[in-house]
Amino acid sequence: MLISKVENVRGELEMPGDKSISHRAAILAALAEGWTTIENFAPGADCGSTLDCLRSLGVAIEHEGNRVVIDGRGLRGVTAPSAALDCGNSGTTMRLLAGVLAGQNFESELSGDESLSKRPMSRVIDPLSQMGARIDSNDGKPPLRIYGGGVLKPIEYGMPVASAQVKSCVLLAGLFAKGTTRVIEHVFTRDHTERLLPEFGVDVETVDLGEETRVSVEGGKPLIAVDLIQIPGDVSSAAFFAAAAAAMPGSRLSIRNVGINAARRAFPDVLRVFGADVDVTETGVWGGEPVGTITVSGGRMKSSTVINSRLIAGLIDELPILAVLGTQIEGGVEIRDAGELRHKESDRISAAVDNLRRMGADVEEFPDGLRVSESPLFGAKVDSFGDHRIAMAFAVAGLFAEGETEIIGHECADISFPGFFDVLRSLSADG
Ligand code: S3P
Repeated sequence: MLISKVENVRGELEMPGDKSISHRAAILAALAEGWTTIENFAPGADCGSTLDCLRSLGVAIEHEGNRVVIDGRGLRGVTAPSAALDCGNSGTTMRLLAGVLAGQNFESELSGDESLSKRPMSRVIDPLSQMGARIDSNDGKPPLRIYGGGVLKPIEYGMPVASAQVKSCVLLAGLFAKGTTRVIEHVFTRDHTERLLPEFGVDVETVDLGEETRVSVEGGKPLIAVDLIQIPGDVSSAAFFAAAAAAMPGSRLSIRNVGINAARRAFPDVLRVFGADVDVTETGVWGGEPVGTITVSGGRMKSSTVINSRLIAGLIDELPILAVLGTQIEGGVEIRDAGELRHKESDRISAAVDNLRRMGADVEEFPDGLRVSESPLFGAKVDSFGDHRIAMAFAVAGLFAEGETEIIGHECADISFPGFFDVLRSLSADG
């Protein structure tokens, strides 16, 4: 895939459905009693993996375009799969389903592709084991063999890593435990599971205790199907376009019907801190999630702060594009406390540093992040490293760079955003 420099980007767009919310909506619909229709379901391969796994668990699913209709089987109505459940590239599929499968009375196995097979799973094995589940793994990595058949007990789990996947895994397992399961978060992570469960009739209590948040769910309550869940546009996908617009004077982009949940909208907020002209207007609430329009106009930006500590969880998927954007910002960008990035679909710190260097940027790598100075970029051959967010971040870098940028393995953008490159091309007058 070749990308050329453009002067600016302009237009109005909508994003595909949010990936995180789509996974959760499908899983909860499968565990509910009755039919649930989901509209604007994320079209990427990751959410397709979740649907395929649910089908292998005996759930009837119709999927046409972005509409998914699920015949829920009830909490314990899913059936033993005849083979390993293939989660593909999707960590969310594996970690969330681990919570569901720990509560079943049959044995199952969760496997994944080469990238997923290297990702840490002890973070879900540990709390599930505390709940009484028996799980074998390849030294803390996939595949996971989940024995099932036991009785899960509720726990209070203080999260050692800031991870919405781990939180959701424990809450989902909590649905099968007798009593109250609690997760204590020291850093607030995306709360889509907590927002969706009440839509299915299960109360979740979230208590903000200042230094920590306590999320509780009561087990054993049946989930009731929801007639219609509309998934907001994916704000993490929107970040690539917002970044392109913010950095190029003369740009103006409006992204409509995008999720603006406080746990996910840190990227537009950070752009504003850098002095970008960004407006976020709420227009409604879909499936318990606030939705709105993000409008970004291009101009000069100046960094004023290191991106670290509590800022990281809310920006976790946007850090690759933030690193690219750093090349266009007076003062550059420094990202720290982001060691988690090394455990994503690729090691996103080394992938970003490697590609930025190939494009001529002045960048320094740290164990927990990177610092990139304002730098002119030059077209180069860059690598997606098989990681959708790296592919898309460096497509945007290509818009800023003199000459042509070639992205090796650009197809992996389909993991979250099939059609990304067509949308990108449609936004520039020169495209
Ligand atoms: C996700 C949580 C984040 C994020 C991932 C999706 C989710 O992962 O990076 O893309 O849907 O819960 P972690 O929970 O590992 O931080």
